[in-house]
Amino acid sequence: MKNNTLLLLCLLIGIGSYAQKFNELAQTPPMGWNTWNKFACNVDEDLIKGAADAMVESGMKEAGYEYIIIDDCWHGERDEKGFIQADPERFPSGMKALVDYVHSKGLKFGIYSDAGGTTCAGEPGSRGHEYQDALTYAEWGVDYLKYDWCDTDNLDPVGAYTTMRNALYEAGRPVLFAICEWGDNDPWKWAQDIGHTWRTTGDIYHCWDCEEDHGDWSSWGVLRILDMQEGLRKYAGPGHWNDPDMMEVGNGLTDSENRAHFAMWSMLAAPLIAGNDLQNMSEATRKTLTNKEMIAINQDPLGRQAWKYSAEDGLETWVKPLANGQWAVTFLNRADEPRNVNFNWMQNSFDDPDFDHKVVFASTPYLVRDIWNEKDFKDTRNALKATVPAHDVLTLRLTRK
Ligand code: GLA
Repeated sequence: MKNNTLLLLCLLIGIGSYAQKFNELAQTPPMGWNTWNKFACNVDEDLIKGAADAMVESGMKEAGYEYIIIDDCWHGERDEKGFIQADPERFPSGMKALVDYVHSKGLKFGIYSDAGGTTCAGEPGSRGHEYQDALTYAEWGVDYLKYDWCDTDNLDPVGAYTTMRNALYEAGRPVLFAICEWGDNDPWKWAQDIGHTWRTTGDIYHCWDCEEDHGDWSSWGVLRILDMQEGLRKYAGPGHWNDPDMMEVGNGLTDSENRAHFAMWSMLAAPLIAGNDLQNMSEATRKTLTNKEMIAINQDPLGRQAWKYSAEDGLETWVKPLANGQWAVTFLNRADEPRNVNFNWMQNSFDDPDFDHKVVFASTPYLVRDIWNEKDFKDTRNALKATVPAHDVLTLRLTRK
């Protein structure tokens, strides 16, 4: 081999091994379940095993949910060499055994840490231990890391998240990296090559349209979080998603609100991370979370978020371009009374404000499917007439005739 060919080869091998994010992951929005919204710090191995069992038995796994994620408060102390350990009382069998259990169900395992010295609940954070922690997670078989932003004084977010990304990559086990700095530093502008998802807002709260005041911070109802997504859709796509936070479906909203929440997160191409008690959910909640036609809209391979096409009198029309020239449309009724929809397709066209997707219904007819009521309307040559109950949605899939 000539010298310069050898040099080129070395360079290529070298370049190929530079740390990066695991690029093949999250080609569609991640789906799973996380402990935080319902259980906060009350986590232990029985809860996680029970949730994994329930994810299979409820049909959620079959519907596409994959990750079982322990949020804050699983931690014990670091050992004398600085390696993190699980809390021995809550996780007496150890984290590795728990991960094995979750894997044995055909599911993946997610864990939580923080870029700072301590997590938001005051547990040990990863600051100064990034490579050690990444090695530990790889040893345990972890597949997903949510990485929070508490206690990060003087840390630069791009640097801190890049350090952990690199540590995960060097540890060698593919890990989906979920950035959680609440949108404070505009992660949509810099996180595309660092993480697979990034939180766009502060924490969600299980109400329709409220602000929950915690003193020096607030958490937000479903509509508040939805409204904070404005302007962000152009930053998302396969492998890199805006994350409007985990779902509150089944945590005290009405059945209509649960449906609307789930529909809007699906329209936003958001990660579908359930946050309810999987072992004790109502049949209505289970049906909402496992609605396959709605999930297919979330998981559509084109990976576009919906945009707000129109809004009038509490009734919003959201439009999501889908693969193969198909479209999803959701009429969201934010109001406290029912609203009538009267939508004349022939006088409307959809023209994506950020990407190159367009349809003029006067020249291109589509079939219209109501996915929540599992029935077909006629087609777009007929105006759509329907009523949307308060705090509810009507979601349609449009397919070329
Ligand atoms: C922050 C995050 C939440 C949750 C808690 C855990 O508030 O935004 O999603 O992880 O920390 O303490």
